[in-house]
Amino acid sequence: MKILVTGGAGFIGSNFILYWMRNYPSDKIINLDKLTYAGNLENLKSVKDNPNYFFIHGDILNLNDVNKAMEGIDVVVHFAAESHVDRSIKRPADFIMANIVGTQILLDAAVKNKIKRFHHVSTDEVYGSLNLEDKNKFNERTNYNPRSPYSASKAGSDHLVRAYFATYDLPITITNCSNNYGQYQFPEKMIPLAITNVLEGKKIPVYGDGFYVRDWLYVEDHCRAIDAVLKKGKVGETYCIGGSTEDINNLTVAKKILSFLKKDDSFIEFVKDRPGHDRKYAVDWSKIKNELGWNPLHKFDDWLEKTIFWYKNNEEWWRRVKTGEYQKYYKEQYGEE
Ligand code: NAD
Ligand code: DAU
Repeated sequence: MKILVTGGAGFIGSNFILYWMRNYPSDKIINLDKLTYAGNLENLKSVKDNPNYFFIHGDILNLNDVNKAMEGIDVVVHFAAESHVDRSIKRPADFIMANIVGTQILLDAAVKNKIKRFHHVSTDEVYGSLNLEDKNKFNERTNYNPRSPYSASKAGSDHLVRAYFATYDLPITITNCSNNYGQYQFPEKMIPLAITNVLEGKKIPVYGDGFYVRDWLYVEDHCRAIDAVLKKGKVGETYCIGGSTEDINNLTVAKKILSFLKKDDSFIEFVKDRPGHDRKYAVDWSKIKNELGWNPLHKFDDWLEKTIFWYKNNEEWWRRVKTGEYQKYYKEQYGEE
């Protein structure tokens, strides 16, 4: 099988390529990535000389790059996107272009090339926000209610993918997943930012009151879920993916990180809240469990600790990433370096 992975140099895309090549070594992987600030080929150095791995430095917004990448492809797994909510608040146009227009260009090429499966990697954020006291969770029938430019652009891309199924019979599947954590995550996102800040002797910036809840999932569980959907999922269907953390708020996550790193709560700094900050995400993943036999295997406390060890042992990786553009971004976002 020949798989085109878009955004394969990012956090989840690179973990997915490493997972796939470990489990299905005879498949061919084509990685199309623009290498934005979030793309990092270092994540893939262990496979770069593998004859079944090919990298194309290109943009999903560029028709030539996309046509070249699509040649002879059986399956597309589409990760490429602008992915950070805070950046979307500052520069929404980048998100509309990459996430909506980029997806439409890929979909057109997928139709033209008679792709056997177009799998779109999306987010639980398209469903909006729950209240802290809500007992219900997001599921595949929840109405869309995106509240940030990022989630609105992902919602737009989901609608396009479904429209290409209905209109052009393109065999699609979609997954809407909750917050991932693990190795190679760019340190603009909460968990790696918190870990690397503490390793640098800096504080963890906690937005607002810190009582915001996310449904954390170890990245390999996300890769396993996409694998299950590619192998056993029904064309035209959507599957929600989530973790098994029960209502752990950001303050608790920050305190867990500090306790693993043997630091006290003075390393927590409450900072200005994110505009339109979604209070809580929680995902009901019973459909993918009942129909495809998937469930999360990695426990939050154990794999948070392993993730902290990974950042401790891979200081060169994140120190390099935290230079240049990152420092400019950090200053703009948090008002200091
Ligand atoms: P990331 O920001 O780490 O990586 C995105 C990758 O896409 C980068 O390698 C970047 O260079 C590439 N890219 C961006 N624009 C491109 C373009 N125009 N052409 C080609 N490549 C481009 O993101 P991530 O956290 O790995 O997320 C991957 C996907 O999963 C995204 O679609 C995101 O919406 C979705 N998702 C993420 C999470 C999460 O918790 N991180 C959860 C659910 C869904
Ligand atoms: O739910 C899935 C989504 O999870 C993905 O679609 C997105 O691509 C991914 O970025 C993530 O979005 P969040 O906005 O939930 O993730 P982030 O790591 O930015 O923030 C997690 C929580 O931590 C959120 O409530 C905001 C808070 N936070 C974040 C940062 C960066 C802080 O309190 N301080 C911070 O400095």
